[in-house]
Amino acid sequence: MIIESLYVLAAAGILFIPAHAATGHGTAGVVNTICKDVAIIGGGASGSYSAVRLREDFGVSVVVIEKDVTLGGHVNTWVDPATGRGFDAGVQNYIDLGGAKAFFTRMGIATQPNVRSVLDTVYVDFTTGARLTNYTPPSAADRSDALRRFLAAAEQYLPILEPGWWSFPEPSQIPTDLLLPFRDFIAKYNLTSAVPQIFSTTGFGMHDLMGSLTVWLMRSFNVNLDRLLLGLDTSFVPASRKNQDLYDAILKLLGSDVLLSSTVIGAERSDQDGVVLEVRSSATGDTTRIVAKKLLFTAAPSDANTAPFELDTLEKSVLHKFEYSASYVGVVSHPSLPLNTSLVNTPSAVQPTNWAAAIPAYPYNTRFENYPNSSYYRVIATGDQTFTEEQAKAVITGSFDKMVAAGTLTQTTPPQPLEFHSFTPHCLVSAYVSRKALKCGFIQSLNGLQGRRSTWYTGAAWSVHVSTNLWNFTDTLLPRLVASL
Ligand SMILES: Cc1cc2nc3c(=O)[nH]c(=O)nc-3n(C[C@H](O)[C@H](O)[C@H](O)COP(=O)(O)OP(=O)(O)OC[C@H]3O[C@@H](n4cnc5c(N)ncnc54)[C@H](O)[C@@H]3O)c2cc1C
Ligand SMILES: *[C@@H]1O[C@H](CO)[C@@H](O)[C@H](O)[C@H]1NC(C)=O
Ligand SMILES: *[C@@H]1O[C@H](CO)[C@@H](O)[C@H](O)[C@H]1NC(C)=O
Ligand SMILES: *[C@@H]1O[C@H](CO)[C@@H](O)[C@H](O)[C@H]1NC(C)=O
Ligand SMILES: *[C@@H]1O[C@H](CO)[C@@H](O)[C@H](O)[C@H]1NC(C)=O
Repeated sequence: MIIESLYVLAAAGILFIPAHAATGHGTAGVVNTICKDVAIIGGGASGSYSAVRLREDFGVSVVVIEKDVTLGGHVNTWVDPATGRGFDAGVQNYIDLGGAKAFFTRMGIATQPNVRSVLDTVYVDFTTGARLTNYTPPSAADRSDALRRFLAAAEQYLPILEPGWWSFPEPSQIPTDLLLPFRDFIAKYNLTSAVPQIFSTTGFGMHDLMGSLTVWLMRSFNVNLDRLLLGLDTSFVPASRKNQDLYDAILKLLGSDVLLSSTVIGAERSDQDGVVLEVRSSATGDTTRIVAKKLLFTAAPSDANTAPFELDTLEKSVLHKFEYSASYVGVVSHPSLPLNTSLVNTPSAVQPTNWAAAIPAYPYNTRFENYPNSSYYRVIATGDQTFTEEQAKAVITGSFDKMVAAGTLTQTTPPQPLEFHSFTPHCLVSAYVSRKALKCGFIQSLNGLQGRRSTWYTGAAWSVHVSTNLWNFTDTLLPRLVASL
């Protein structure tokens, strides 16, 4: 086999593969060949973590292929050029779980306990821009009671949900609760007074929280997040208050083992012969050939991200079943936005105490949330997987304009537009499949892809969508990958 002999020769340092050595796929511009044990697609939370652990702890050589200009995926730290202060628009804090804090220490990043800032909350229906005048949020005691009921129910399912899907039962054994739309689970366990809190914590990442199956809700709002809200778990932040610092430190450590601004444009994968990738840098236009024993795919396994990998029929039949939400985060400012305040998008139907109605219809902007001691605001917009960046910006500016039109905010004279300091796509998030797919053994099929065609998977589609839980899951995957080398 061409691929195998290439690998063996190149791995032994015997072969420099010249620009036109053939493995198919437009090789014309290939300037460089890299031979590694594992090629990692995506350098976000799971890809960066995997790279460090594989190289430093397992002694496995790696290369990370990241399409963005930095590592870190969803962290999205914006640094105010005037002051140097960081504003985290994506990831806010890290649950103190497993080896997470030790990982920061290991990367030289000092941490401190996360202190939740207390803001004035103003409830506004963003579809009309009108402030709610007759709304009473759940009392703290009622909310905690409901969160405790959620915890008791969710803890029963922990062994089959975390870490990852390894112990998920056969279709006929899936607990009924997990297949209930979340609104029915809420009714069953009397969780209504926790609905606004669940939505504002992570529920906003699912474009249809109430209609989502409970199994998917528990991948987004899990036992640890619930315990965090109840004060039973703790979370931490980098002392610098810049989540990007962790990933910059990882980049420094990994050095030339990371290819930034790079995507795969062609791939060959097989069970016996490993992987050959053609990788294009959007910065230089150069193409690099990567010859690796295994692929670790950590980006969302969406149709677009998997297209260059030429999925076979079985892979398509599984991965193409995933549907997603799309979410966008940004940092904005406007002199009319009130300081020390979070303007929270809340449908007027919630009044006076109809908390189950607290979820806006998608696409929505979740809130304008003031960063303490600053004039900047965090915005988060979510829709289904067709929701584009342009539409997301329009939803955010639209909600601001409605508040001005309704008199909730006073526009400046002359009027000024809402200013965006950063705006970052997070699409795609919250991977899910239908109840029917689950009943037809989707999870077993998904697990069946692990290791097939020399390809392993981690990332949010495979675990709880929380960085630290994802690392915890990744810790269970890496030994399997290494054993297959
Ligand atoms: C708004 C928001 C807030 C969050 N807040 C928190 C929080 O406070 N605490 C917490 O623990 N978790 C939080 N999370 C969850 C956490 O960010 C995710 O669970 C985690 O980032 C998922 O990691 P991942 O590796 O799967 O994906 P990502 O971190 O998104 O990384 C994927 C990487 O792959 C790259 N990529 C995508 N496609 C390709 C391609 N085709 N080729 C090459 N590279 C590609 C991307 O650029 C990205 O760098 C938040 C998520 C969101 C959306
Ligand atoms: C911000 O609002 C909170 C909640 O109302 C209040 O406790 C706090 O004192 C306010 N802080 C400032 C600086 O105004
Ligand atoms: C449901 O929860 C609310 C508040 O958490 C509580 O006041 C009420 O008694 C509960 N109802 C039942 C039937 O348990
Ligand atoms: C905001 O300022 C107050 C008062 O100076 C200070 O106590 C608080 O720590 C600051 N918060 C942040 C997040 O900077
Ligand atoms: C994952 O986290 C749990 C604690 O929530 C811990 O018991 C378990 O050992 C962790 N698993 C790994 C592989 O770190």
